[in-house]
Amino acid sequence: MMIPGRNGQLLPVTLVTGASTGIGSALAGAFAGMGNHLLLVARSEDRLAGLAEELRAAHGISVFSCPADLALPESPQRIFDYCLQHHLAVRLLVNCAGTSRASDFNNLALRDIERIMAVNMSAVARLVHLFLPGMVAEQEGGIINIASLGGLQGVPGLGLYSATKSFLITLGEALHMELRGTGVRVATVCPGFVDTGFMEKAGHDRRGVRLPVCSVDVVVRAVLRGYRQNRMRVYPTPLDFLIVFSQRFVPRLFSVRLSGYLAAARNNQ
Ligand SMILES: NC(=O)c1ccc[n+]([C@@H]2O[C@H](COP(=O)([O-])OP(=O)(O)OC[C@H]3O[C@@H](n4cnc5c(N)ncnc54)[C@H](OP(=O)(O)O)[C@@H]3O)[C@@H](O)[C@H]2O)c1
Repeated sequence: MMIPGRNGQLLPVTLVTGASTGIGSALAGAFAGMGNHLLLVARSEDRLAGLAEELRAAHGISVFSCPADLALPESPQRIFDYCLQHHLAVRLLVNCAGTSRASDFNNLALRDIERIMAVNMSAVARLVHLFLPGMVAEQEGGIINIASLGGLQGVPGLGLYSATKSFLITLGEALHMELRGTGVRVATVCPGFVDTGFMEKAGHDRRGVRLPVCSVDVVVRAVLRGYRQNRMRVYPTPLDFLIVFSQRFVPRLFSVRLSGYLAAARNNQ
């Protein structure tokens, strides 16, 4: 099997999942602005095509798009095969696609449970497993996982979502350490609430949220800075950092209760 990255003819690209909207779309724009060639992944084919066109015209880079539903177990391998066919070497993997449903676990439909776990965890693990060997072989590369502050404690009303983000945080921490000295960086980003359509899609009424909602630009700047500084975890705002830091001084039960109060996801039920 050819490993992308072993052949000098391959085009190095930044793969961004969840590139059709929100944070992923903005990150794709930021990496394009740095001159990175891109491979965009999400389900919305038209949105990806439009963004690819826009970024090619604005930055003179190559932009590929591979529409895929990451809830399907075969999608990561399909994306890997697309790279082989188009002679692309993924040098930076940005796992930004994510999905949620505001609900107590007891009321979640099984199809939502499976979709949330597949997109937020399985697809990420599979993509890392497929693309990491090429980066290690070339002693160059990086992985950026977009997790959430919600992954740092259980969030009542968003329990499964927060558990999947915990998965990203702990996997990212271990990878960060395992890959020291290999030339491959791993950063895990933990935003609080961000101004995108994410909550609306999850049935989470953002009017009830008791935390400031930060802009996508703030997240993008923090991602670029954190990755450049080879941070293991990245907190986009000082408040995000403060919330996590203060958890050291309060009982765990208090943190869980407070996160439920701030997220107010159960108000919708
Ligand atoms: N917004 C927040 O408050 C917030 C806070 C903390 C963390 N985050 C995380 O930030 C990341 C980006 O979210 P966002 O805020 O930018 O929301 P968003 O605009 O809804 O973006 C989500 C992205 O994921 C893609 N996606 C969803 N399901 C998919 C699937 N089955 N297969 C492939 N792609 C899929 C969507 O594309 P398609 O619909 O085209 O497939 C979209 O591009 C997520 O991982 C989220 O958990 C968000």
